[in-house]
Amino acid sequence: MKIYVPLDSAAKALGADDVAATIRSEAATRGLDVEIIRNGTRGMIWLEPLVEVETDAGRVGYGAVDVADVPALLDGKLASLGLVDELDWMKGQTRLTFQRCGVINPLSLSDYEAHGGLAGLRRAIAMTAAEVVEEVTTSGLRGRGGAGFPTGIKWNTVLGAQADQKYIVCNADEGDSGTFADRMIMEGDPFTLIEGMVIAGLAVEATRGYVYLRSEYPDAIDVMEEAVRIARAAGVLGADVLGSSRAFDMEIRVGAGAYVCGEETSLLNSLEGKRGVVRAKPPLPALEGFLGKPTVVNNVISLATVPVILEKGAQHYAEFGLGRSKGTIPIQIAGNVKFGGLYETAFGMPLGDLVDKVAGGTLTGRPVKAVQVGGPLGAYMPREKFDTPFGYEEFDGQGGLIGHAGLVVFDDSADMRGMARFAMEFCAVESCGKCTPCRIGAVRGVETIDRIGQGDAAAVELLEDLCETMKDGSLCALGGFTPYPVLSALRAFPEDFNMVREAAE
Ligand SMILES: Cc1cc2nc3c(=O)[nH]c(=O)nc-3n(C[C@H](O)[C@H](O)[C@H](O)COP(=O)(O)O)c2cc1C
Ligand code: SF4
Repeated sequence: MKIYVPLDSAAKALGADDVAATIRSEAATRGLDVEIIRNGTRGMIWLEPLVEVETDAGRVGYGAVDVADVPALLDGKLASLGLVDELDWMKGQTRLTFQRCGVINPLSLSDYEAHGGLAGLRRAIAMTAAEVVEEVTTSGLRGRGGAGFPTGIKWNTVLGAQADQKYIVCNADEGDSGTFADRMIMEGDPFTLIEGMVIAGLAVEATRGYVYLRSEYPDAIDVMEEAVRIARAAGVLGADVLGSSRAFDMEIRVGAGAYVCGEETSLLNSLEGKRGVVRAKPPLPALEGFLGKPTVVNNVISLATVPVILEKGAQHYAEFGLGRSKGTIPIQIAGNVKFGGLYETAFGMPLGDLVDKVAGGTLTGRPVKAVQVGGPLGAYMPREKFDTPFGYEEFDGQGGLIGHAGLVVFDDSADMRGMARFAMEFCAVESCGKCTPCRIGAVRGVETIDRIGQGDAAAVELLEDLCETMKDGSLCALGGFTPYPVLSALRAFPEDFNMVREAAE
């Protein structure tokens, strides 16, 4: 009997380790031959711990399983959810990047290969570096870390740079509110990220890679470190990648615990052992990055998507999506929702469908007031904007951004002036201090929003002015984008700022 119990840290936080231990001891007491496999999560966090039992028809799910449910589970008397692959949440998705997450044993390289792993790398090895870059460019893949910059164009700059050493740096700092896709794939399918980094290395002729992984993810750090060891022992990493005579090796570096260290130049400083302060651009990291050498900095999901692009072909990937937003996007649904978790779908799904249908509305049962999309720098989208399709340009057109595709849902009890204040406060706390509009502006922003709260209507104009200054004058997007949540809250919910709606419009 094969039983799957997730090792994902969300599942563990909900008791998965205790459930696995109880299954083991109960099975031993009953003399049952049970093999427990610790898989990643399928992304249905409200069902965790989601225990799956292998049957001839497929894997049958039980969730959320409690320790007390284990005897009934082993007796075959626990009510099941049915086949996991047939659940609406799973069937509605297009899983490309997350195709194996929750399915395989994350640290079994043979399981990985049996499910399509390494096929992309093998194809890349047979291609020239420029052909690999071309393939990624044709796929239309854009950076999933926030800015949506075309990955192939970035790689092409690094490939064209002349240097004795180039680097691949994976940004696994994942600081956006409501996001966990990077963690989920690192814990549930780490070889995908490793394979993506090796392919990136071959594509730009870089021989060393680093994953800058946030310290708040101890489980992901452990899984990634073990996966790197396994990959090296199997010759996926090293001086002769899969017998190709080409070298690539990588290591895991633990982050320093600051939101701004997710910004790529600040990250590079931190990786070099310096203070995490933003660097002025130019020079671009692609030309002068880690230790001054040409460096690809890409988000976990960007890199973890490369293997499937190489495996199935750029055209296959590019067929999904909407306009210039090609392929699929792993959307992370959090906040006040019935069904929180990761939902990978082709770009184009309207925001309202994600909130009302996929997420099932609010957990409190109250009406949805707003959704913050794209982390702490993302705009608050009110219901009037719920027909916006999930796409970079489409969100931009509505004054919003996709960022790392995290959704945080709020019900009608949310105080939007409080949320605007929080955005300024967050910026003040996390500011690296390099430029004045952000360092000073965010502090003044908190004070100005407090004045509005005390009934000082004239302070609204001051706040708008301050936001314009921060947008125009900040060196990076921390100061430059904090005005988006602030102004979107002000425009969509003027009542919360003691204003009448017409005055705000
Ligand atoms: C304040 C700030 C925080 C950021 N945090 C992250 C992060 O946690 N992870 C990430 O991948 N990108 C983050 N970014 C974006 C990176 O600077 C960079 O654009 C990204 O790593 C490039 O990879 P991509 O092209 O694959 O998206 C952040 C940017 C800013 C301004
Ligand atoms: S905007 Fe803020 S975080 Fe960015 S460089 Fe300026 S002070 Fe640093």
